[in-house]
Amino acid sequence: MRRLPEIPRRIKRLFPAQIKRPARAALLSYMFRQAMRDLAGLQPGEVPSREMLKKLRLGWDNLGWDAKLDYFEEIVKRAATTEGPILECGSGLTTLVVGHLAGKRKVETWSLEHNADWYRRVLNAIERHHVPKVNLCSAPLREYDEFNWYNPPLDKMPEKFSLVICDGPPDLAHGGRYGLLPVLGNRLKPGTVILFDDAKEPGQPEVLQRWTAESGVSVELRTTEEVSFALVTCR
Ligand SMILES: C[S@@+](CC[C@H](N)C(=O)[O-])C[C@H]1O[C@@H](n2cnc3c(N)ncnc32)[C@H](O)[C@@H]1O
Repeated sequence: MRRLPEIPRRIKRLFPAQIKRPARAALLSYMFRQAMRDLAGLQPGEVPSREMLKKLRLGWDNLGWDAKLDYFEEIVKRAATTEGPILECGSGLTTLVVGHLAGKRKVETWSLEHNADWYRRVLNAIERHHVPKVNLCSAPLREYDEFNWYNPPLDKMPEKFSLVICDGPPDLAHGGRYGLLPVLGNRLKPGTVILFDDAKEPGQPEVLQRWTAESGVSVELRTTEEVSFALVTCR
């Protein structure tokens, strides 16, 4: 992959913030376009390197909300080889990357997004970077009997999914991610893995415990220096 030239610190200090901010945005946008081009150039089944993922995260410029590197690596490993459709709860950089890796093998990605502004940003990026076979669904949260969750377009979605990336919705107060299995559990093939981010964050262990008790899923925790996520395998 091409390397970008470093700007020395003493030169950076010469520029006021009004110039620095647009310059930074332009540099990140350039970097992102290059990284997306490198991603699009991978062979079907080829997994992006950690360096490529770092550049994509830097260029996407949504640190704190995007998938951390160790979790991202697990996502791309699976997205590059999964045979059936992929479901994503909570869109963003992962939608673009998973979409490319799956789409070049003719596998569909379906991503649910509840936030209208964020939906537009991700949709723009999907179009600008020509990401194939992604269905980004505007799916506002709705009330179910005892929780809130996305309102997915069930009649349009595939009968069965083979991989789930579960990184939303962020609203913990009304059930958070719990709704995935009650609402869409019957669309997940036996053996489907749900990649569940932030597994040790407040509220998330309770979701995993309820799923285990109610749906008999098995849960394997992965904890690294920067992130905890779970591999949840469906029966
Ligand atoms: C953790 S994010 C999903 C991130 C995605 N998997 C990625 O790697 O970019 C979950 C939800 O947070 C919301 N979100 C993302 N970025 C945000 C931001 N900068 N500020 C507020 N909400 C954000 C979106 O509604 C998104 O569906």
